[in-house]
Amino acid sequence: MTAQIPFATDLSLAPEVTAFFDAPTNTISYVVKDPHSAACAVIDSVMDIDYAAGRITYEGADRIIAFIAENRLNLDWLIETHVHADHLSAAPYIQSKLGGKLGIGENITLVQETFGKIFNEGTEFQRDGSQFDRLFKDGDTYRIGTMEAHVLHTPGHTPACMTHVIGNAAFVGDTLFMPDGGSARADFPGGDARTLYRSIQRVLALPREMRLFMCHDYGPNGRDIQWETSVGDEIDHNIHVGHGTSEDDFVRMREARDATLPMPRLIIPSLQVNMRAGKLPPKDESGKTFLKVPVNGL
Ligand SMILES: [Fe+2]
Repeated sequence: MTAQIPFATDLSLAPEVTAFFDAPTNTISYVVKDPHSAACAVIDSVMDIDYAAGRITYEGADRIIAFIAENRLNLDWLIETHVHADHLSAAPYIQSKLGGKLGIGENITLVQETFGKIFNEGTEFQRDGSQFDRLFKDGDTYRIGTMEAHVLHTPGHTPACMTHVIGNAAFVGDTLFMPDGGSARADFPGGDARTLYRSIQRVLALPREMRLFMCHDYGPNGRDIQWETSVGDEIDHNIHVGHGTSEDDFVRMREARDATLPMPRLIIPSLQVNMRAGKLPPKDESGKTFLKVPVNGL
């Protein structure tokens, strides 16, 4: 099977990538800056939550906002690689301070349909992706200053997962992990191991020198947290898909492994907030905001 890349890559363009690691959720957020202008994008930001206390804060997002302000950057885009199930997005908070457009994959509508039902949302919860400024399709492009960014649909972990390719840097979301971490789980509603394998082949069809930036790293076997690798390194060393692993072998491994994984600690608040583009549910008649817990509903 040859995986098709629906655009030409430009390895001569090297965006300046600054990573922000969120230790409580092992998430890496990025500021991606155009080397030829002050334009930047923020990819996969994190809103802090103390779930036990029902308390939401913005220390992590404020670090990103301070970085953008100190470097006098213009925020063009806030990108969500997918609807995260393990952390809450801070995109609307950052957007309210710095502007920019908020984009996600067009299959957000499928995710909204699924979780709109699970959380028994009323009709006021729109399932058309209208909470976002842009819904990306496979092969779409958008601009960050003078840079052209390309979008590759890479479902499997979720139906809405997109990889963003900007010059010699690709932001893979939760498709691949670092070579010693393997791949993301594919057992959430709408996830599929075989689809994930095929999406990973698309990422691995990018040039070997392409820099790959992870959304998560858990420091397997006690190593320090890392977030950057390359297509060549993943092909040669990835423990789940490297060394030419076949589709059937991957699916067997992935499904067996997923059956052993607990739900992410923050899946219930994360999905309720992230399916709304990172906004909290509307206040109820008391003027307060509540998150639901569906009992035996996931
Ligand atoms: Fe994820």
